[in-house]
Amino acid sequence: MQLPSDLPRTSGASIQTLAEALPHIVWTADARGDVNYFNRRWTEYTGLTIAQTRRHGWERVLHPDDRPVIIRRWREAVRIGESYEIEYRFRRASDGTYRWHLGRALLVAAGAEAPVTWLGTCTDIEDVKRLQVELQEAVHLRENFVSVASHELRTPLTALRLQLALLQRALARHENIESSVLHRQVARLSAQEARLSRLVDSLLDVSRLTAGKLQLQLDEVNLVTVARDVVDRVREEASQAGCVIDLVALEPVVGEWDALRLEQVLTNLLANAMKYGAGRPIEVVVIRHGSTAELRVRDHGIGIDPSQHGRIFERFERIAATSHFGGFGLGLWIAREIVQALGGSIRVESTLGDGACFAVLLPIRSGHRVRLDTAINDALDGAPT
Ligand SMILES: Nc1ncnc2c1ncn2[C@@H]1O[C@H](COP(=O)(O)OP(=O)(O)O)[C@@H](O)[C@H]1O
Ligand SMILES: [Mg+2]
Repeated sequence: MQLPSDLPRTSGASIQTLAEALPHIVWTADARGDVNYFNRRWTEYTGLTIAQTRRHGWERVLHPDDRPVIIRRWREAVRIGESYEIEYRFRRASDGTYRWHLGRALLVAAGAEAPVTWLGTCTDIEDVKRLQVELQEAVHLRENFVSVASHELRTPLTALRLQLALLQRALARHENIESSVLHRQVARLSAQEARLSRLVDSLLDVSRLTAGKLQLQLDEVNLVTVARDVVDRVREEASQAGCVIDLVALEPVVGEWDALRLEQVLTNLLANAMKYGAGRPIEVVVIRHGSTAELRVRDHGIGIDPSQHGRIFERFERIAATSHFGGFGLGLWIAREIVQALGGSIRVESTLGDGACFAVLLPIRSGHRVRLDTAINDALDGAPT
């Protein structure tokens, strides 16, 4: 390969000036493959002086796993006289880490007499590579999510369709449907509709929360009223799951919150309690400790191993047998985002097989963020066991 014709071939000095100005590592070698020049960037990056670099010196900053391949490739290129491009890791002297580089070796002049036969560059591509991996992971996460989401949405949709078909058939036959039967069917339809709406809402929330667009509408809210409304709303679903929900609230707990968002938090916690604690009672407690309100949901279901307590609040994280229990792995993440936006925190106490207790702590005034860790501990210490 030739250098561009407008670069003065004889002017070694101008090539060197150019090489020193580049942010990349630049080197040259003679026809035998002996490196005879490295720019300043090389010394800065590897911490090796030119004397330490000469002959095989440069090989020692190569990652041990890459060393044999790179050395073989270089020797082969020198032997047959062929330019090439390859990726490998170099150790950076400033922090001792190995970082990915793109290496190019260009054959610029053939012949044993030419002092510069090879011109090479090494470009740090670690950040680009990392971004690439992150991007791939994000795409994978999204693909996975879309397939889970479509599966999840189909389940209540199929149930809805079946129940509607039953009703339509009865109507087509001009059957007189007994009002108690009709009631039951409508209740089933509305339970499926509720499930479908909740799924669609959580999908909308993911995009809103991810875009950082969670808007709070702060108002004077009685948490007990919120809890009562939600418990009433899910009662049908609870009875289908074989759960009786007991709400314990001795006095109004009023604060400055977003009522709809709090309803969502409790709905998500109750949906989990009904799903993972089907057939067992559920207790909801609303209580005030000084300037902190607490909302607690306790179930008697499958429980969660303490080693997983941190994970379950993350997006898409699911612990329970996913084939057996449907879900997006979003309920707790959404709940935590809302609670944190209100200046509060959420925590779980549970062991495997022994039910779960989720405690939400909220400052009475959302504007005043307070440290809640101690409050949470106090609250959980006082929780019924
Ligand atoms: N009350 C509970 N009992 C047992 N496990 C629970 C409970 N609530 C949540 N989990 C676990 O935490 C995970 C995340 O919960 P969540 O974010 O609501 O997602 P999803 O319910 O869609 O799986 C669940 O998959 C489950 O493994
Ligand atoms: Mg859930």
